Amino acid sequence: MNHPVSRASVHAFYADAILHGRNTAENLQAATSERFNTLLESIGDATPRTALDLGYGAGTYTIALARAGFRVIAVDQVPSDSLLHRIDGTSDWAHRIDPRECLAENFAIDQDFGVIVAKDVLHYLARRDVESLLTTAVAHARGANYHYLEVFTGISRRSSDGRLLRIEGEADYSPDCFGHVIEQIYDGWDLTLLWSEHAEQDSRTGRNCFEATRATVIAANPAA
Ligand SMILES: C[S@@+](CC[C@H](N)C(=O)[O-])C[C@H]1O[C@@H](n2cnc3c(N)ncnc32)[C@H](O)[C@@H]1O
Repeated sequence: MNHPVSRASVHAFYADAILHGRNTAENLQAATSERFNTLLESIGDATPRTALDLGYGAGTYTIALARAGFRVIAVDQVPSDSLLHRIDGTSDWAHRIDPRECLAENFAIDQDFGVIVAKDVLHYLARRDVESLLTTAVAHARGANYHYLEVFTGISRRSSDGRLLRIEGEADYSPDCFGHVIEQIYDGWDLTLLWSEHAEQDSRTGRNCFEATRATVIAANPAA
């Protein structure tokens, strides 16, 4: 049997970890991935210098985008103070970051973002919200856009006493189902879909508390 975990407790967990700059089992303080760095370096002049980072967490991807010259709307459910504190107001890229405290599913995408990043966040949303968010983003893309998504599928979570846990309302995609959804939504885009096994350990028990198959999606809209 799966024991339900409330969305409110997920919210409180991240608000506390981010406020105190604490690392978590998933490594919130990690640097940007090599895959993302390679993508960012490859982006040419045809891509609008606007970006959206959904579920920015400690803000590492947001900062990388701003340093690379993008104006970034950074969305997370946690208060923006920690990100504002992290970005040094005197740097020449800080003014490009516009943090928004809001649920990703409530953020209305109504513009053409050159880059959209959603890393380790979409699995928390309901399926219909994931799909409507990505469909809207695709509908507003005008050409030479890039979407970089890392999404957990086939998740199994356990409490320290070994009970299976499930977060209320979460998408709960199997790898196959998620792959089909992505292929449908990004029809006509150049799509790279990579899969890797992922596990996180409970530092107290040493046992795995989270196991999943991580999908990395790199979608490129052919220049219009
Ligand atoms: C695992 S962290 C990932 C942070 C960052 N993207 C990274 O990879 O370093 C998940 C983040 O998503 C945020 N989050 C979870 N559900 C959300 C939602 N429905 N809307 C907005 N943010 C959400 C959490 O507050 C947390 O900051």
